[in-house]
Amino acid sequence: MAKKTKTASPADAQTYAHDQKAVQRPDVGLQQEFLKEKRPPKAYRYDSSLDPALSWDENPGREQAEWLLSLLQRCVDEGEEVVFAQPQTTVDGRFRVTSLKACVTLLQTLSKPFLNWAGKAERAEIKVPTLPLFVHERHSTKAIIDGLQSHKAKGTTLDLFGDPQLDLTDKLRAYEHKGPWVNRLVLGDSLVVMNSLLEYEGLGGQVQMIYMDPPYGVKFGSNFQPFVRKRDVKHADDDQMTREPEMVKAYRDTWELGLHSYLTYLRDRLLLARELLTESGSVFVQISDENLHHIRSVMDEVFGPQNCLGVIAFKKTGYQASGLLPANYDFICWYGKNAENAKYRQLYVPKMETSAFVGQDLWFEFPDGARRRLTKDEKDDSAIWPAGARLFRHKPPEGAGSGGNTDPFEFDGRIFRPKQGKHWSTTPEGMKRLADANRLIAMGNTLRFVNFLDDLAVGPITTVWPDTVVSGFSDPQLYVVQTSTKAVQRCMLMATDPGDLVLDPTCGSGTTAYVAEQWGRRWITTDTSRVPLALARQRLLTATFPYYDLQDPKVGPRGGFRYEHKQNRKGEEVGGLVPHITLKSIANDEPPAMEVLVDRPEILKNVTRVAGPFAVEALMPAAIEVEQPPAPAADDAPVLTAQQELGAYNDGGNHIDRMVRVLKLSRTLRLPENRTLAFDNVRSLDGYDYLHAEAEEQNGSDKRVAIVFGPEDGAIGSETVWAAASEASDAKFAKLYFFGFAIQAKAREMLEDRSKKILPCAFITVTPDVLMSDLLKTTRASEIFSVTGLPDIDVVKAGKDKNTGTDLVQVKLKGLDIFNPATLETEEYAAENLPCWMLDTDYDGMCFIASQVFFPKTSAWDNLQKSLKAQFEPGVWEHLAGTESEPFELGMRRRIAVKVIDERGNELMAVREVKAEGKK
Ligand SMILES: C[S@@+](CC[C@H](N)C(=O)[O-])C[C@H]1O[C@@H](n2cnc3c(N)ncnc32)[C@H](O)[C@@H]1O
Repeated sequence: MAKKTKTASPADAQTYAHDQKAVQRPDVGLQQEFLKEKRPPKAYRYDSSLDPALSWDENPGREQAEWLLSLLQRCVDEGEEVVFAQPQTTVDGRFRVTSLKACVTLLQTLSKPFLNWAGKAERAEIKVPTLPLFVHERHSTKAIIDGLQSHKAKGTTLDLFGDPQLDLTDKLRAYEHKGPWVNRLVLGDSLVVMNSLLEYEGLGGQVQMIYMDPPYGVKFGSNFQPFVRKRDVKHADDDQMTREPEMVKAYRDTWELGLHSYLTYLRDRLLLARELLTESGSVFVQISDENLHHIRSVMDEVFGPQNCLGVIAFKKTGYQASGLLPANYDFICWYGKNAENAKYRQLYVPKMETSAFVGQDLWFEFPDGARRRLTKDEKDDSAIWPAGARLFRHKPPEGAGSGGNTDPFEFDGRIFRPKQGKHWSTTPEGMKRLADANRLIAMGNTLRFVNFLDDLAVGPITTVWPDTVVSGFSDPQLYVVQTSTKAVQRCMLMATDPGDLVLDPTCGSGTTAYVAEQWGRRWITTDTSRVPLALARQRLLTATFPYYDLQDPKVGPRGGFRYEHKQNRKGEEVGGLVPHITLKSIANDEPPAMEVLVDRPEILKNVTRVAGPFAVEALMPAAIEVEQPPAPAADDAPVLTAQQELGAYNDGGNHIDRMVRVLKLSRTLRLPENRTLAFDNVRSLDGYDYLHAEAEEQNGSDKRVAIVFGPEDGAIGSETVWAAASEASDAKFAKLYFFGFAIQAKAREMLEDRSKKILPCAFITVTPDVLMSDLLKTTRASEIFSVTGLPDIDVVKAGKDKNTGTDLVQVKLKGLDIFNPATLETEEYAAENLPCWMLDTDYDGMCFIASQVFFPKTSAWDNLQKSLKAQFEPGVWEHLAGTESEPFELGMRRRIAVKVIDERGNELMAVREVKAEGKK
């Protein structure tokens, strides 16, 4: 049981608190209410002037050029003021110009080469669904630790979760409220999520940095991870052939039009990324050499070539032996929204690693004052440099123009004058000070300034980063395509300040979020796949970071970190402030200026910092609830008819047609332990109110089964389950399958409850990437559908709290009950084989607040355990790596929820009311 130590607790877990506010998103339990507010999709137009090649024969560019030329002619004839008294638009409304200058710029752009690909010209605009985001989970490592220490009921720690604790009426107007900032892990397609951030939250122009590490768009089978716990991914191995989106979107082979679809996918996302950036913001796109040239062209097009801030080459782990020159570098293309305003913090590396002095005339100065040039061997090898020698190069002590001090200057018995058209960089007294400080040297007829290497111990970082491969121990790999933290860290430190907002639309294992958390930046990250999100959740919850001392703790990270000037015994600079001796500082007899090494803030010793609170959000209500359904969200929540449920947000008809097509192409259901069930003869059904399709079960009894598809942007409701089951039973179908992205609590309860059921029913989970199917290929091997289970739990008494005497209970997770539609039997999947489960000790029916989080049979919590070693008895950590919870006090509601993450990242939830003693 948890125990507090008597000592003051320097090792107490701390977090950073951001003082910025955020627009609040609704809890997932309020989804029904938000069905009322249906917003049209948002259209984003491309800059059409950059579209097709200026081919005078068959290209639409010709039409545009001719129109522009006619405008120019009219300007010559009638004058610009007359022609552009109002903006000029083509008849079809596609092109619009407002001035003669814009006309000329457009014509010039049309004649420039650009990248074209199939489908690009037709895509003059994109329409993106405008959907709200719902808060599914709230996490806080600190709250977990505090809860374990105190056993207090959850209500006391809500503020640690960043929960604004709005009352129900205010929750129902979530988007109208600002509340505390919490970082965010979002499940959903990046395009739709970015649109939601823009349209629902007004985050346009507020993101300081976007880091994108999209699938590289290269080889089939090398870039996906189907299971949370399995990192090795073999090429196209059958048992791993999955339709997990990171695979789907990773391969050229799985894109409907190969590289063409891939480029379309990237351009769409970059277009929205641009909208989100601040004027001084930056976007970084990570890519390998295969597609680097394409990405540069696409980025030139979206951001403008003038806004390219650099292409960074960084070393990756290992390389593929190819028989020819092996490639061991990947690239990061860096663009600013507006290069002129780009935020840039210079990073430094130890001086000799830079090219600062390379190729220059190098000299030594010896302790006795003697000076000589380096030999050729000494230039090549610093190991043979004489002891005590100081390296220097020399520069003219002059500035351009003859306006300043041009007085003759006497040095070493000779008179020197600045070169023609130049002046001395300092005053006559300053020149004297330089001479007195032994900082001048005569070279032939010219006078030079002596610039020692150690005048500044560090040099600016350049675009080649050979040191980004970090040892597995300090940067453990969770995800098969995980980026080096060092590469992301450098980008972030260059382009942002503490407190700034960072977005990663390709979360993966959450490297950007992890680095942002470490450096006190706010973050939002999104992924379409549940596997990487599960990894990111675990990585963030269990992470520990140094506590960088804040300038102003009241303001939080936004106020910046504290830096100090420090040297070690050898006189090496080890602090974050490093002196920079310059000609000016010597000449003016000033102390040297200090350069800030932003990556070396002061660290508070003995403080364990953990990730601040973060929320898990999604576009869709992914969680599945069973057993005792939670209290209704609000009295006036709309009651939907089955037909309304099915058509929730979008055009239901198209969605059903698409789903039938997808099922015809990919007819295999994933059952646990890699077993499958396939369908034959999938056909659409006409003339039914609720049933959408029928099929025959392969290898089964060839019985006809009926199929209902859930809505595009919502969960299947109980009306649908009830009405469809009656219809299917009347029509003498043997079974009924519900295919959906999610299902509501009551609906699942009704479906699972065999006694009430009219005929056998099963719920099949559909992966969210189906919604992108115009860009993706659906094949027999695509794994779109899977059968998920329900947590099997026991709630038991666990004695009384030693200090308060209150009753404690404990939850035991027995496993996952999975209904096998082929056999109509329920099978149990062992709890200890599940990658993660979580407990909400006082579930409000709206949002899952994770009071305790468990990673069975793993060492996930070990790091934190070591940092907080004195704080708990080992038993606590054993619970967190097992299937039995730590004892806890029940909350007011006496209702707990258990959420299980299965091996494919699916979330499954069970809710239990715990009866008070003596009550039935
Ligand atoms: C190369 S991985 C990113 C790895 C990450 N940098 C890390 O360190 O773990 C690319 C990720 O993008 C995700 N992804 C691909 N297409 C997406 C989309 N349209 N929306 C959101 N995420 C997407 C994939 O699921 C995958 O996890």
